[in-house]
Formats: sequence, structure tokens, C-alpha cells
Amino acid sequence: PPLQSLLNMDDFEQLATKKLSKKAWAYYYSAADDKISKSLNTQAFRSILLRPRVFIDCTECNLETRLLGNQVSLPIYVSPAAQARLGHSSGEAGIAEACRSLGALQIISNSASMTPEQIVANASREQTFGWQLYIQDDRAKSERMVARVNKLNAIKFIVLTLDSTVMGKREDDQRFGNVIDEITEVSYSKGSKESIEKKAFAGMDPSITWTETLAWLQTRTHLPIVLKGIQTHEDAYIASLHRLQVKGIILSNHGGRSLDTAPPAVHTLFEMRKYCPEVFDKLEVWVDGGVRRGTDVVKALCLGARGVGIGRPPLWGLAAGGVEGVKRTLQILADETKTCMRLLGVQRVDQLGMHHVSKSRHSEL
Ligand code: FNR
Repeated sequence: PPLQSLLNMDDFEQLATKKLSKKAWAYYYSAADDKISKSLNTQAFRSILLRPRVFIDCTECNLETRLLGNQVSLPIYVSPAAQARLGHSSGEAGIAEACRSLGALQIISNSASMTPEQIVANASREQTFGWQLYIQDDRAKSERMVARVNKLNAIKFIVLTLDSTVMGKREDDQRFGNVIDEITEVSYSKGSKESIEKKAFAGMDPSITWTETLAWLQTRTHLPIVLKGIQTHEDAYIASLHRLQVKGIILSNHGGRSLDTAPPAVHTLFEMRKYCPEVFDKLEVWVDGGVRRGTDVVKALCLGARGVGIGRPPLWGLAAGGVEGVKRTLQILADETKTCMRLLGVQRVDQLGMHHVSKSRHSEL
């Protein structure tokens, strides 16, 4: 079907499911154990109601914002996701091309299927990337990766993922043959600058801690550091301590792929508003997980998020229609977000706040 006939993220998921190999589909779809967190991610947004204000001029509506000081055209960004080439040969560079045309920020996965140099090769001046790091148990390897990323001007910050020190139990992957055993890994070793090697992922280091690992990373990069996978108000508070010099946190349960029954980002946002509301002023709070509609984006922004990430939808976009498919997923979400804001009586993202949402009292939601 022509891409224009795909109207929402569900349409993209369905077409991607038809186009992907069974193994690739399983890798994108899978989540830990009973997928409770994965389904709660979407449900959590549905249980919040919007409070539209009427009789307000909404002729103009602008999605522009700043993420860690970088100007972007929309608050929606692409979350780091491994192995985009399973979806389409243009891979992460294809996602970058789509982000360039929409003015969106992209976070490149540590386990991308292309090198960071390849992915940012055609970046525009204004384009912003982050690069995500899993600390490897071979620490020297992470050190080489960071050194490479430090040299790329388009990459403006490092995202350190903390929620996957061990792999969640993903049964779809096990059932359909684990794609991870055969996918490619970018080599960051000297002498093989651009090479991509076919081998299993090396192990992640489960011994990382607040006290040791941040200091280690900060001596190896001057880029701002964002912590991904914060799931409680306690950890949000620790991250905000001045001496740690963390610039942002991403509330995320890894799309439900790590610890099942871990809370959706919306839940953590509510916890933070109750127990440590000052944290929102100390660092930037971004969220991801289950964002499938413009109304989801708006609700996250109302609750205090500055950036809203999408993980699976761009992969479905790639599988459904390559670069154009990714562009269309971003465009649909941007359009929906704009429509939602206008119907709420809001012209700019910084006007959204707690007064625009309430928790549903309807039992079915
Ligand atoms: C991910 N995610 C992820 N996160 C990360 O920090 N590093 C990574 O390499 C990956 N890889 C990855 C692969 C695939 C196939 C998926 C679906 C997800 C998690 C991702 O950044 C994000 O947290 C979730 O995907 C957000 O949830 P939704 O939008 O997929 O519901």
C-alpha cells in the first residue's frame, strides 16, 4: 500500500509485521516476561484525561523547543534502538535522513548496525544527535567508543543506559531464534575504523555504580551526560545532585524489554511531581515508552517532560517504507501533537502544564 494510506502508528506496526522477517519482527516486538510493562506503557497514557480550554486563539501553533540547549522543530525524538538495518538497508543513516528533514533529534544506539561516522555523515548544521552507551565489561572498548564519538561535532550529548545491566527475558526472541546471536556489531577498534563485524554483542558490565562509573565517564568526555532508564523518584533525585553533573534523565522502562512490571514513565513522572518536584528545574526530564499518539506526547509534556522519545515507531517506519516511512511516522505524530495542542487552546509547548491533565476516574480507562 502507498505510505499515504497509513494513518497512525498501528497501521505502521501492521505493515512492518508483514514485511519483516519473523526473527526481525520478534526482535522489535519482544518485551520481557509477560509484557506487562510494555502494555502498561500505552495504557498509562490512556488513563490520563486532557482538559481542553476553549475560546482561545489557536490559529498559530508551534512545536519548536530546545533539548539540552539544542534547537529542534519538535519535542518528539528518536530513542536509541539497536540494529535498524534489520528493518531496512538504509538503517540508522536512513533514520538520520528522516530526522534531518523533520528537524528532529536522534539518539544513536551503542548497538547500531552502522558506525556513528556513517550515521552522521550527511548531517545538516542544525541537526542534533545523541549517542547512547552501554558500559561494556571490557571497559577499554567503551573507552574507544567514547573517544570516537567525542570527535563527531553532530553528536551533542551521551546517553548512558542503566536499566539493562542484564538482559530481560524476552521469550519471542527465544522462540523465533535469537537475532542477537547473528547480528552485526560495529567495531570500534583501531585499524578497522569503518568496519562492521559479525559477532555477538559483548557483555555489558553489571557492576556499574553511581559513585564509580559517572566519574569514569566524565573524565573521558566533555559532552553532557543523560541517564536513561530512571524509574523511581529516588533515582531521579540522586541524578539531580549537583555534584554528579548530570544534565538530563530519561524516564524509561526500555519499552518493557528489561524488568517486567517496572513502571511506565508516566507513573514515574507522577511520583516525581509528588516527592521531588524541584528535580524538574535542576535537569531536563525526557520520557519514552508506548508513545503512539500526539495526545500521548502532549500528556508527557504536561506532566513535566521536555522531550518525548519513540523507539519502535521509527523502526516500523523503516520496515514499511525506508526513509519515507520514517518521515511519515514522525510527520503523523507531529501533526497529531499540533492538533491536540490547538484543541487544548495552546500555541507553544512551554504553555502546557498540569492544569491541562487529570487522572481518569472512569474504571474502564
Ligand atoms: C530498544 N531500546 C534500546 N535502548 C537503549 O538504550 N539502547 C538500545 O540499544 C536499545 N535497543 C532497542 C532495540 C529495540 C528493537 C527496541 C524496541 C528498543 C529501548 C528504546 O530506546 C526505548 O526505550 C523504547 O523502545 C521506548 O519504547 P517504545 O517507543 O518502543 O514503546
